[in-house]
Amino acid sequence: MTTSANQRILTGDTPTGKLHLGHYVGSVENRLALQDQYDCYFIIANKHAFTTRADRPADIRQSVIEIATDYLACGIDPNRSTMFIQSEVPAIDELTFFFAMLIPFNRVMRNPTLKDEIRDKELGDNYPFGFPMYAVGQCADILAFRPELVPVGEDQLPHLEMTREVARRFDQIYCGVDPQTEDKNYVSAGGLFPVIQPKLGRVKRLVGLGAPGPDGNLLKMSKSLNNAIFLSDDADTVQKKVMGMYTDPKRLRATDPGETDPSKNPLWAFHETFNPETAWVDEHRDMYKNGKVGDVAVKKKLIEVLNTLIEPIRNRRRHYEQRPDEVLDALRIGTKRANAVAEETVQLAKQAMKQDYFPRELIIR
Ligand code: TRP
Repeated sequence: MTTSANQRILTGDTPTGKLHLGHYVGSVENRLALQDQYDCYFIIANKHAFTTRADRPADIRQSVIEIATDYLACGIDPNRSTMFIQSEVPAIDELTFFFAMLIPFNRVMRNPTLKDEIRDKELGDNYPFGFPMYAVGQCADILAFRPELVPVGEDQLPHLEMTREVARRFDQIYCGVDPQTEDKNYVSAGGLFPVIQPKLGRVKRLVGLGAPGPDGNLLKMSKSLNNAIFLSDDADTVQKKVMGMYTDPKRLRATDPGETDPSKNPLWAFHETFNPETAWVDEHRDMYKNGKVGDVAVKKKLIEVLNTLIEPIRNRRRHYEQRPDEVLDALRIGTKRANAVAEETVQLAKQAMKQDYFPRELIIR
């Protein structure tokens, strides 16, 4: 059982599909390691999925269940950790509205992650009001739990910086915290919200299976780029994907053995990330550069390595796929625990803002 004495962490995912290896090394691995030391909260941010797919509610619902199933399959233990559905925690929405008053509109629109998304998803100026709003909502996702740490991938850092700004402003305005206070001391100085710390994963950005983009760099692994290996892929699929993985064509043409560059080759990025036998990797990378070992042998080894990692996840996933009620129960219990914390936060926030007019009680079954 989790105890409230532990410090909290909060992180999560937008349900837009299943989890892949990029999620695993970017964040899930970190979460598994933190389960013992922290009281962990994992948000499935279903409302964020509505920013770009409001017309596909059934897909979003399906994806919520897939993500929860992936969490359980990876070894997130619902007795120790709390996974929950964002839209079933109304305190988050209430905080979002108040937080939106503490952050200038132009500040939100300068958020580099939003700008990147507008560019990459080719939204132009055709995005809903709720799109920039989600970044403010993410501040509330986090601060509703007053966590110490927020484990995320690099792309989320701008959102966390905004969250830190919101926490400071709230604490300064409504809790009388001196603006000179050091970030780590906001709570001990009387603030409600901690100025949270990000925690990055072991691998900041895992490359995908495909060829480099126009700038010559390998693209990141992403469902929408169709270059991902999913934690739910079966052994055959993993084999096919790895055998079909892009390899640097220069390697075959290179007359000068030094000419081929493993960093342009996802095969080596994957070995470096997933193969625990570092001596094997170093030795074979050299052999590969010198044309002494071919793609097929190196790919076969990678298939072995990946299947060793994915096999137990796949087995646990099968267990939960056959028991959707267990998944929903884990979400129900988690959402209840999440509401207990978030309700306390919103009540304290309203007290601090002098907007605590009536007692309240939340009922969600
Ligand atoms: N925006 C995050 C993503 O797309 C998901 C997310 C929503 C999140 N709320 C969060 C992550 C709070 C960390 C903390 O990956």
